[in-house]
Amino acid sequence: MTEELEAGRKSGKCAIEFASVSKAFGSRVVLKDVSFSVAEGTTYVLLGRSGAGKSVTLKLIDGLLKADSGTVTVNGEDIAALEHRALAQSRKRIGYLFQSAALFDSISVGENVAFPLRRHTKKPDAEIRSQAQGLLEQVGLGKEYDSMPGDLSGGMRKRAGLARALAVEPSLLLVDEPSAGLDPVTSTEIDELLIDIKTNRHATLVVVTHNIQSARRIADRMAFIDEGRLLAEGTVKELEHSEHELVQAFMNSHMGG
Ligand SMILES: Nc1ncnc2c1ncn2[C@@H]1O[C@H](COP(=O)(O)OP(=O)(O)O)[C@@H](O)[C@H]1O
Ligand SMILES: [Mg+2]
Repeated sequence: MTEELEAGRKSGKCAIEFASVSKAFGSRVVLKDVSFSVAEGTTYVLLGRSGAGKSVTLKLIDGLLKADSGTVTVNGEDIAALEHRALAQSRKRIGYLFQSAALFDSISVGENVAFPLRRHTKKPDAEIRSQAQGLLEQVGLGKEYDSMPGDLSGGMRKRAGLARALAVEPSLLLVDEPSAGLDPVTSTEIDELLIDIKTNRHATLVVVTHNIQSARRIADRMAFIDEGRLLAEGTVKELEHSEHELVQAFMNSHMGG
């Protein structure tokens, strides 16, 4: 653990902590004894091959899944110890952009963004609409309130998904493969948005990606997960010099897109 992280922990500035977390589905172990921590206000990238356990890690942070052993601490609270209402309360401040962007296809882009506001607040309609419009503007979709999701490009759908995730004013934003299926220019734009969110909203981000270039742009620290084990953890430089050949090969590859 670095001095910076150690200091962060002492001052209570650790947004997420995994301590020896394991998770299995039936007899299939998908996370084995995983430990890492994410300092508040930083971007942590999870790298690894497909099926490594990255999405499961995000779901454990969000409380969608429960660890079999070990503890997952989010904003100082042990997720497993929270009762139903407290967990719901904790999840309200977590924005989650799923891999598929998962927009509701039968309602407009603007109403997709307004959805969490309508569900979690009792604000009047006009205020909710204007807030949703403001969020769309922030992601460069100011003219798309009344568009239907099916008419948007892949990059625009990701942006709309981000706007919706931001509606809850998350202190923690979980993003699963933001650049999957996007061209390099569009994925760079999404990266810039993520950097902007961290900087201007002082949010903590955990981002899953296969895209090394993207990881280099956005990460403060990263972890490499393989077959449910955390093989390496640290800064870009540290991972480039990892003792694990697989990690080195991944870091020095030119995987993108
Ligand atoms: N709800 C589930 N039930 C059973 N197996 C699951 C479930 N979710 C994930 N898995 C399995 O756990 C492993 C890790 O999945 P995942 O975290 O989605 O991988 P990735 O690193 O590609 O995001 C995979 O083998 C996957 O099939
Ligand atoms: Mg995944």
